[in-house]
This record gives sequence, C-alpha cells and structure tokens, in this order.
Amino acid sequence: MVCLGNICRSPLAEGILKSKLPENIFFIDSAGTSNYHIGEQPDPRAIAIAKKYGIDISAQKGRQFVVSDFDAFDYIYAMDSENFNNIVNLARNSEDVSKVKLILEELNDSSITNVPDPYYGGEQGFENVYQLLDEACTSIVNKLTTH
Ligand code: 4NP
Repeated sequence: MVCLGNICRSPLAEGILKSKLPENIFFIDSAGTSNYHIGEQPDPRAIAIAKKYGIDISAQKGRQFVVSDFDAFDYIYAMDSENFNNIVNLARNSEDVSKVKLILEELNDSSITNVPDPYYGGEQGFENVYQLLDEACTSIVNKLTTH
C-alpha cells in the first residue's frame, strides 16, 4: 500500500487489509513515495478513524518505498495516480510495472480513481478515505482468496 507520506492513506489501507486476511499467509506493508515522514507514527486523525472501526495502526512507522519492494511484493497498490506514476518510474522492467495498480481500480465504480489526500482536510476526509479503502480492500480479499 503506497501513498505520498505514509502517514494517512497507506497506513489505513495496510491496517484495513491486515484486518481482513490471515497474517501467517499474507505479508502486508505500506510505504510512501516521499521521504517526508520516515520513522513517524501515522497521523493522529488516521489513528483515530482506524480506532473507531476497531483497528490499531498506532504502531506503524513511516518508511519510503524502495526498489527492492518490487521483489518483496506481488501486488503494489497506489493510492492515487501521482503515487502510481512515481512508483512506475522506479520500475526496472515490465514485471515490476505489472505489479503496480491503482487501489480504487478494485472498486466497480469508475467515477473515482484516486483516494483523496486527506492531509490538509478535516475529519470528514478521513471518514471518506476509510470507507473507500474498506470497500477496495474487501474487493482485494475476494480476489486473493477466490483465485
Ligand atoms: P498521505 O498524506 O500521502 O496519505 O500519507 C500526506 C501526508 C503528508 C503530506 C502529504 C500527504 N505532506 O505533504 O507532508
């Protein structure tokens, strides 16, 4: 799960997907394309919205996406098209590129492709982000567990 800062959207996506899949079978992590918040805890607003739905993301630490993530993961979900482009620019070959997806393409709603960046918005932004990610993660789980 990859966003820009790895303190708002992707930590939520990591926590939500982890809550829906067995940890001994699926290795799930998140990262940011930027180096802005390396080592930091998720944004307090992200921690709060996750807690509202029974998920604890407070132990996560921000890290930056690295090229070796292409080797470590089968699927790389970008939160928006800017993150998507930044990740694809780091790809070494077509196999790397083929792992990168926009997370909202997992939804059957083509009207929204980017998870809005909630960093400069209010609490409603985080609620909206949570609901989008929860739906997308449910689709991902269905795909991963039925194929
Ligand atoms: P995220 O949100 O990419 O969902 O973690 C942001 C966090 C920090 C910044 C931008 C977006 N920032 O500019 O510091």
